[in-house]
Amino acid sequence: MTENENIKKPVILSGITPTGILTIGHLAGALKNWSQMQNDFDCYYMIADLHAITARQKPADLRLRTLDTAAMFIACGIDPERSVLFIQSHVPEHTQLTWVLSCLTGMGECSRMTQFKDKSQKSEESVNVGLFSYPVLMASDILLYQADAVPVGEDQKQHLELSRDLANRFNNLYSPTFKVPEPYIPKIGARIMSLQDPSKKMSKSDDNQSSVIYLTDTDEVIKNKIKRAVTDSGSDIKANPEKQGIYNLITLYHLSTGKSFEEIEIEFEGKGYGEFKAAVGNAVAGFIRPLREKYEQLRHDDKLLKEILMTGAEKAGRTAAKTLSKVYKKTGFLSF
Ligand code: TYM
Repeated sequence: MTENENIKKPVILSGITPTGILTIGHLAGALKNWSQMQNDFDCYYMIADLHAITARQKPADLRLRTLDTAAMFIACGIDPERSVLFIQSHVPEHTQLTWVLSCLTGMGECSRMTQFKDKSQKSEESVNVGLFSYPVLMASDILLYQADAVPVGEDQKQHLELSRDLANRFNNLYSPTFKVPEPYIPKIGARIMSLQDPSKKMSKSDDNQSSVIYLTDTDEVIKNKIKRAVTDSGSDIKANPEKQGIYNLITLYHLSTGKSFEEIEIEFEGKGYGEFKAAVGNAVAGFIRPLREKYEQLRHDDKLLKEILMTGAEKAGRTAAKTLSKVYKKTGFLSF
């Protein structure tokens, strides 16, 4: 082993809930950073199936979506040789730590969560205790691996603050045990908006499919969705965050081409929305195409995906067990 290999890299953990086909929002807010961070960090990437059941799931669909998500992680550049890719329910320490942390979490801390408030207002009858305590499970996911940083989109920031609070609380109550994780949120693309209502986040569960660019959409579908995207009044292609529709399309063009906002403004100076949308459609379709093709290839190989996920769970389980054992000891649970 060389000297470099001996140096421990900082750790990151992140996850995605397998409740639908992943969108360009997941790519912009999370997966893009995930793949770029693989060189400099020890990476744990998780399919959050335990989180998925806070809303009712058909078991067969959940099984399929779990494998779909694993295939999409790899298609988006996650290399299972370098990163630990695993399914959350395969590592029981996640639920075990959740209990301990739940006993340190105030009711008010969970009820203040914006995502909980939004989801519980939308359908009161489906509010369950799991939905309420979901951020505690997320804290466990992160703290078990002693993550230094957590690459996520903007909507997860509040959940991460709770993870930090719980880490500090446990450390102060007992003794230093957990790393206090930092959020790692991209400067551009942390919140990709719906194409039909740019005041709302693009979400895989949106009823209106034309609001969302799925990573499995064909070139034609992508171009059409962007062509029909809602834009603001006016005609200038200027990156003004108040013009949410155009700002969102500029962000997607930046994501797909790597061009800066300034370069994009210059490129489209004096040109109309129609021409701009056609260019965005082409760029996004070209950007997604190789991912979709790789995904389709991988999705036909269940055996390979399962092998990767089993190996990942073994590796993740070893790290998680070490942390949980410290936590149990410090909490006062006897071990013989
Ligand atoms: P989830 O599955 O809703 O989203 C996964 C990741 O994608 C980001 N994201 C977006 N980013 C920009 N624009 C969008 N429109 C967009 N939509 C989604 C999210 O911010 C997130 O980073 N609770 C988490 C999953 C989770 C997790 C964790 C994350 C479970 N345990 C531990 C980090 C660490 C969730 O439901 O994300």
